[in-house]
Amino acid sequence: MNLIRYIKKELYVEDCAVSRLVEKHSTPLFVYSKAMIAHNWRQFESPEFKNKQMVCYAVKANSNISILSTLAKLGAGFDVVSQGELARVIAAGGDPKRIIFSGVGKKSSEIAYALDAGIFSFNVESEAELYRINKVAAGINKIATISIRVNPDVSVDTHPYISTGLKENKFGVSIEDAKPLYIQAKTLSHVSLKGIDFHIGSQITDISPFLDSIDRMLQLIDELSDLGISLTHLNVGGGIGVQYDNKSPLLATNYVKAVFEKVKQRDLTLIFEPGRAVVANAGVLITEIELIKNNGEKNFAIVDAAMNDLLRPALYGAWHNIHPVVEHDNLTSKVYDVVGPVCESSDFLGKNRTLAIEEGDYLAIFSTGAYSFCMSSNYNSRPKAAEVLIDGDTAHLISKRESINDLWRNEVLIK
Ligand code: LLP
Repeated sequence: MNLIRYIKKELYVEDCAVSRLVEKHSTPLFVYSKAMIAHNWRQFESPEFKNKQMVCYAVKANSNISILSTLAKLGAGFDVVSQGELARVIAAGGDPKRIIFSGVGKKSSEIAYALDAGIFSFNVESEAELYRINKVAAGINKIATISIRVNPDVSVDTHPYISTGLKENKFGVSIEDAKPLYIQAKTLSHVSLKGIDFHIGSQITDISPFLDSIDRMLQLIDELSDLGISLTHLNVGGGIGVQYDNKSPLLATNYVKAVFEKVKQRDLTLIFEPGRAVVANAGVLITEIELIKNNGEKNFAIVDAAMNDLLRPALYGAWHNIHPVVEHDNLTSKVYDVVGPVCESSDFLGKNRTLAIEEGDYLAIFSTGAYSFCMSSNYNSRPKAAEVLIDGDTAHLISKRESINDLWRNEVLIK
């Protein structure tokens, strides 16, 4: 299903023409399709194993409260990594009992906040954190439900910055260290040991590392069971790759089916933490071409979005499709670098793109529903972009464009 598509040479998101949206909301503008988010979400739900799964959307992928509320209404659980994310989910109407708290460096105050909120479980990432959680829980007389994040040590074919399942990464504990840690955890007074979790990285398009990781986890679950430690949930993390370029995505339905196939004989609840696969292809960033420049060697389309709005190309060398919002009939194509106005050579949104464009045109940067607005900054004192969520023929403004005055809202001018 694709509701971000061209109808007679003009880009539409659901029933809204993007050129109308920019007239009203200006650029840079993030536009999301509500129906596509819902559709992507449902791909993770398996009717056959309904009572044996919990799908927890990874809030870090796109944390706008209207998007969280859209997902909460679909019955989503949530995977959070900070008090800020947890507070957002609660503000958006998410059910605390369906929240998992991940992350390598939870502060004691964050742990206490999560215990007070009554979250489902903590994903514990180290021995030190295990003791911290036990101590905080004891201090407020609560029992923390926990799962230990185990590093399956499988390699994945993705950008090194978003690969997390290797020993050299900071995440989780090794398989060898996991067993003694479970034995210790069992002795603690204020934790209840329920699960095991892993997350091997992001934008993974091959299913085998996921299945290999599950095999390793199941073996560990059996070994723990022999020691009298029985676990009730297996959290398989997120990481399902979407389509950015020509590389085929990993279809969520196939992935969920294959994962259940591995564990169906067991009495385990499966937890999924997808982020990108739910929102990436449901969003598009619209930008205006301010100037066209030729320096003899190269053509540049200088646009009004920049690395502060979309960091992925600069940080990971990520490739996003770029295409005019309204296609021209009779312009010749040229090869351009699409760049922003920020004073950094890494400020590019796409390199060597063949485009038939002129100044004043709008460009769409595709698959920017995930890890885009939420990674934006005010670098170069650029106000953050606006976001709209499309529902059929209605466009809801879900994040106002920052004003110039907003830029120093929290700064203190000393006299
Ligand atoms: N669970 C955990 C514990 C995670 O660390 C992550 C992502 C997810 C779930 C969701 O992964 P997903 O399904 O979205 O792949 N900024 C990078 C991606 C960083 C992902 C960090 N962890 C990017 O723009 O590609």
